Amino acid sequence: MRDTILAIVVIVNVLCGILVYFLPDIGNYILLGIASIGTMLAIYDAFIQKKHSLMRAFPIVARLRWIFEEEREKIQQYFIEDDLNGTPINREKRSIVYQRSKREIETIPFGTQHNLYGKGYEFVKHSLFPKNHHHIKGERVVVGSDKCSQKYDASIINISAMSFGSLSKNAIMALNQGAKMGAFAHNTGEGGISPYHLQGGDLIFQVGTGYFGAGKTIEGKRVFDEEIFRLNAMRPEVKMIEIKFSQGAKPGHGGILPAKKNTEEIAKIRAVTPFTRVDSPPNHAAFSNFDEMIAFLQKVRDLCDGKPIGIKLCVGNNEEIEAMIKAFAKVNNYPDFIAVDGAEGGTGSAPLEFTNYIGTPLIEGLIFIDKMLKKHGLRKEIKIIASGKAVDAFDVVKYLALGADIIGMARSFMLSLGCIQARECNLDSCPVGVATQDEDLVGALVVEDKNVRVKNYHDKTIEAVKEVVAAMGIDTISDVSTEHIYRRDSNNEIITLKKLYY
Ligand SMILES: Cc1cc2nc3c(=O)[nH]c(=O)nc-3n(C[C@H](O)[C@H](O)[C@H](O)COP(=O)(O)O)c2cc1C
Repeated sequence: MRDTILAIVVIVNVLCGILVYFLPDIGNYILLGIASIGTMLAIYDAFIQKKHSLMRAFPIVARLRWIFEEEREKIQQYFIEDDLNGTPINREKRSIVYQRSKREIETIPFGTQHNLYGKGYEFVKHSLFPKNHHHIKGERVVVGSDKCSQKYDASIINISAMSFGSLSKNAIMALNQGAKMGAFAHNTGEGGISPYHLQGGDLIFQVGTGYFGAGKTIEGKRVFDEEIFRLNAMRPEVKMIEIKFSQGAKPGHGGILPAKKNTEEIAKIRAVTPFTRVDSPPNHAAFSNFDEMIAFLQKVRDLCDGKPIGIKLCVGNNEEIEAMIKAFAKVNNYPDFIAVDGAEGGTGSAPLEFTNYIGTPLIEGLIFIDKMLKKHGLRKEIKIIASGKAVDAFDVVKYLALGADIIGMARSFMLSLGCIQARECNLDSCPVGVATQDEDLVGALVVEDKNVRVKNYHDKTIEAVKEVVAAMGIDTISDVSTEHIYRRDSNNEIITLKKLYY
């Protein structure tokens, strides 16, 4: 094959040479130039470069493979994927976010594309006496146990943790301004509080194992610092504190900030060296057992004068989680909320094995936390925030039914900012300026346009939740429960999630 390709390239080159000899115009000179470059490339591929066997065997032609490999995702998304099979978030779900964000038509023509008779199909049942959705109650939930003195009146939908660093400054500003307009909360992510977070929206200040904005480096190790933490935690915008143990996309790993995205500005905010990859450790330096952890949570609560304190985790070892909740009950001290992240959760950057094979998916994790809190008598004090691919109102209703009080959404809000699921968050080349630090790309995201979309998506989704709940004949959102969600199981029978999981 190699000799055939080389022969074709040389013949084309010679023919172009003859053409130029008889018709020496500019067009033919250009043709000859292209043919000559082709011949040189073919010789280089076949005889000089030694790295790529495919290129040695198929000079020039093999280069097409690299081009198609590069463009595979785009070709897949634009030409191949249908409404229901795109991953991680399918086109139907992405479209509803775009439509709600832009307040565009959000109805579907001609009927469902879902297979209602397929295994795993889920639905709720409507009432003969539906309610008026304008009168549905329960879109806000008060977070704060009896240990907390500054309870927070939260929306049932908030922006889940995503740092400045992972996201661009314009994305952070638009999210925060949208949160302000819609009166919901914006989680800072573990990268600390930047000026872009301070647009007036309510903040959940996340403290990860890197203690960015809450610690300092001593002998190369990141440690918690009371003064630095208090300075940030006491800001009036900060309504709740979240101590991060793990996130579903990389549980047991710790955060990763790719070197390219660690700009001078971000490095300054995090007090690290710019343009180096920053890996947060997998565990907290501030505590190493349950007693120390509970003492730490109380210290954090005291340092911010009693704001609600929570922990974020993806459920791992069930015995460990039960032991932790038991320890809370035993000493009668506990966090005000637990944010449960499903293994299906998103990330800016994670190792493949951690994303694909570690951690409990949200449904099982959420149910387990809910059961354990009930078992140990803490369910009334500790609120549950659930995150993991909640996009439309059915997702929200389902997770609330399974035990969540509040839903956190990360990627849905990215979509509301114009994210096209290019899946380049770890490369600094996000084409829509959401998950990049490249100034030109960041500039493409117009904050004044996108902030409204963030608010619209929140508001329209809450409205859709109310419509679903109203159709079910229920007055208050928090009254939905596992007996309201039906699933077709592998025997083709319809069972409730209550029967399946309880
Ligand atoms: C770009 C990006 C950055 C994230 N950064 C953080 C982070 O700093 N801290 C954290 O706890 N979770 C982080 N997450 C996880 C989200 O907060 C959330 O838990 C997870 O994506 C599940 O929500 P989703 O399915 O709605 O995206 C990040 C997710 C994404 C997509």
